[in-house]
Amino acid sequence: MSEGPVAPRPAGVIAALPATVPFVGPEVIERRTGRPFRARLGANENAFGPSPRVVAAIAAHAGDVWTYGDSEAFELRAALAAHLDLPRDAITVGEGIDGLLGLVCRLYLEPGDRVVTSLGAYPTFNYHVAAQGAELVTVPYRDDREDLDALAEAARAMPTAIVYLANPDNPMGTWWPRAAVEDFIARVPGQTLIVLDEAYGETAPKGTLPPSTLLRPNLLRFRTFSKAYGLAGMRVAYGFGEPGAIALFDRIRNHFGVNALAQIAARAALADADHMRAVVDKIGDNRRALAELVAELGLAAIPSATNFLAIDCGGAARADAMLKALLDKGIFVRKPTVPVLDRCIRISIGRPEQMALAHAALRAAAAETGAL
Ligand SMILES: Cc1ncc(COP(=O)(O)O)c(C=O)c1O
Repeated sequence: MSEGPVAPRPAGVIAALPATVPFVGPEVIERRTGRPFRARLGANENAFGPSPRVVAAIAAHAGDVWTYGDSEAFELRAALAAHLDLPRDAITVGEGIDGLLGLVCRLYLEPGDRVVTSLGAYPTFNYHVAAQGAELVTVPYRDDREDLDALAEAARAMPTAIVYLANPDNPMGTWWPRAAVEDFIARVPGQTLIVLDEAYGETAPKGTLPPSTLLRPNLLRFRTFSKAYGLAGMRVAYGFGEPGAIALFDRIRNHFGVNALAQIAARAALADADHMRAVVDKIGDNRRALAELVAELGLAAIPSATNFLAIDCGGAARADAMLKALLDKGIFVRKPTVPVLDRCIRISIGRPEQMALAHAALRAAAAETGAL
């Protein structure tokens, strides 16, 4: 008697994974609660949006989507090469930094390999590490910053395949100046790949990013069009490093992953640096205004180089209550979950009208939770 079809077993590493996702999006919460949010300030999107020239370029090419995009993203990489002052073969593109982080993990990790990151740092990286069956070692933040000494030390203590650093950091928004990052890069062992995530590089003060021409055989750097350029929904980002390491991505990347419109949008975004800089200024103004309100409410704003602000609520219980109160008031925000970062909530910086809703809700939430 023949047996009927059965569901094939996933690969061992995958079968062992918990059924979690790193990010529960606002749409998911809206579907669960049946209520739309009034302000969407939890995913560090850039509500100021892309340049009008980007929107016009997308519109002008919308009818062309019957073609595949350029599998080599030649024009976009050429524009990035000029932007970064690097050769084109030092640059690869991908479906957001998230997509590129997945490729890095597939390229460099064997099951059981050791990977170092900060406890509570960007979780999507950890998600990709887990899918390779690698072992994640975490070091705590120090004074709300990723601890460069401890990260380098952890990478030196035992053979380590990858060390991950986001500068500026998410979820705290803090940052290290260029010299400290360069020193960190020099101290990590040469056999360890440094993944330097510069998703918020454009919103950081001058002097935060090492020069784009700083490349090392064991260094890969990543930037995105999702944040300062306002193109999160297009899913386009880039990695740069020494050409030999960059060439490896071609072995496994999804060759049409950065779609035709994303390539056009990213090129137009790069060409309108004035818009991007104006947006970064507006983010700064609105972030400062939020920090002032936070101080007035007797809470503490963590200094931020990003398009979000972490707010120290004094303890995890109050931060949880503040988060709940804000969600109840229709304001989508998020909070770190690991101690001691969990004493904070995190609010993305949006347009003035969204910020006005957030300010009012924050005042009310602070008053309601004041006794905690
Ligand atoms: C540190 C960090 N890296 C990467 C990303 C994701 O970027 P992308 O939209 O390019 O995938 C984010 C988004 O929040 C982030 O905070």
